[in-house]
Amino acid sequence: MAAHSDVPHQKSSLRKEIERRRTFAIISHPDAGKTTLTEKLLLFGGAINLAGAVKARKASRHATSDWMSIEQERGISVTSSVMKFEYRDYEINLLDTPGHEDFSEDTYRVLTAVDSVIMVIDSVKGVETQTRKLMEVCRMRNTPIITFINKLDREGMAPLDILGDIEEKLQVECAPLSWPIGMGKLFRGTYNLYRKELNLFTPGSDRVEDVRTIRDVNDPALDKALGRQAEELRDDLALLEGAANPFELEHYLRANQTPVFFGSAVNNFGVRELLDAFVEIAPAPRPREAVSRTVAPEEEAFSGFVFKIQANMDPSHRDRLAFLRVCSGKFERGMKMRHHRIGKDVTAANPVIFMAQERALAEEAWPGDIVGLYNHGTIKIGDTFSEKEPLKFTGIPSFAPEHFRRVRLQTPLKAKQLQKGLLQLTEEGAVQLFRPLARNDYILGAVGVLQFDVTIARLKAEYGVDADYEPVNFGLARWVTCDDPKRLAEFQKVNQNQLALDGEGNLAFLAEGEWLLKYVGEKWPEIVFHTTRELR
Ligand code: G4P
Repeated sequence: MAAHSDVPHQKSSLRKEIERRRTFAIISHPDAGKTTLTEKLLLFGGAINLAGAVKARKASRHATSDWMSIEQERGISVTSSVMKFEYRDYEINLLDTPGHEDFSEDTYRVLTAVDSVIMVIDSVKGVETQTRKLMEVCRMRNTPIITFINKLDREGMAPLDILGDIEEKLQVECAPLSWPIGMGKLFRGTYNLYRKELNLFTPGSDRVEDVRTIRDVNDPALDKALGRQAEELRDDLALLEGAANPFELEHYLRANQTPVFFGSAVNNFGVRELLDAFVEIAPAPRPREAVSRTVAPEEEAFSGFVFKIQANMDPSHRDRLAFLRVCSGKFERGMKMRHHRIGKDVTAANPVIFMAQERALAEEAWPGDIVGLYNHGTIKIGDTFSEKEPLKFTGIPSFAPEHFRRVRLQTPLKAKQLQKGLLQLTEEGAVQLFRPLARNDYILGAVGVLQFDVTIARLKAEYGVDADYEPVNFGLARWVTCDDPKRLAEFQKVNQNQLALDGEGNLAFLAEGEWLLKYVGEKWPEIVFHTTRELR
């Protein structure tokens, strides 16, 4: 009887836990203010209590060519790659996307594990290149985006021009939910368009927000608070009536529209306003596509997928931490789950959960949460775990690298270690390994060049292998498939020098540039060249 009556209870608690969860990432071009905003959000959530903690971490990430700082970065970034905090009655998982200019696949994959995104734009610079790239990724999954226009305390672009810039460059409709009053030295605050509240700005981050409800902008209280800038605000709002789109929750959730807020993260201004709107409108964990069907978070059976692997967190143990996003049901420590790719049941013995500054044992987790699983190389990015039913979540892509280097081993006796190190490090996904069919070589491919230095440094520190790299005449890679095995075999024979196997044994075509790809593509119309590969 008891077990029977537990079922509805479990169901309703599952639903409750789902509804109160928000799993998101912040995207921006470097220097727009992502770190600062992260820090302020964590302060509001009580996850850190000292301003400067997150900034200190970022500072240690800067000198990336120096091994010690790479090491330091990883030591720190593991605890910071997922930050859990509470705000009001919500459980928030903030997933960090690597902040440096070097763009890696890691960033893309993190974005496959979130339900929504906050995009930070520098009001002085408008939309920048990395924001565009990240936006493309968000578009692939129709991820809803809230925009935060930062640095209003500086002289920047006119607010309407920024909205125009976003609409034009990112092809998404903007719906301002707040509106700035002045900028730079004349920045006085924002008017919240849906709450009809005036938020007054005083520089400095420790200040309590000065919020006044002014329902009617013709209220003389506005003149009292803003002086002659009250009239400017009235003009702006009148202009907006005709020029801006009204906010539509459905449009935002379908990623056709982005609600926009203005503020100054470093001054802690506009951040609470943003966070309040975020928890209210951002989606709770959503259903996920698997090969066989769509999996709803409310399903009782647990399921999840791995979107990130971090190797050698403790070099003496050679352990690797797999980051699993829970997609449905309840995850419990000690539970048996099926690791579908290898067809085995595994027990989640010591799963961890990530707080802003530490890791803790995860006793339970719900859809939207991220759990860390220790493993010794058996788990790969893209792997699905579930209670019973064989599932395979889709949509975790591997991107074609744009930079290539040949690895040169300095100590020939370490060939075995080199292979092991390369295989394990490339499992993390920041670099890809290619083994040319025609030569006994290791070619590394990456989306950003920084990864080559990181790999060489880690080979030495973690595997005791002295290696370096040299340029190689490849500029693009495409995964190759063909419905006709005979034709594929012929293609392989003729193009040996351009073909390689990636770390998982998939055939890839490496070429100097587009012209060769085009030429070969025209000659071999049956062969399909893929720029992304869904991880198996
Ligand atoms: P990122 O993670 O997106 O790369 O940006 P980050 O938060 O590190 O911010 C980049 C710079 O912009 C920092 O200055 C930061 O203080 C500043 N910043 C962030 N928000 C605002 C804002 O609202 N107004 C102004 N004026 N500046 C802002 P820095 O000089 O690189 O570092 P720091 O010495 O100030 O820490």
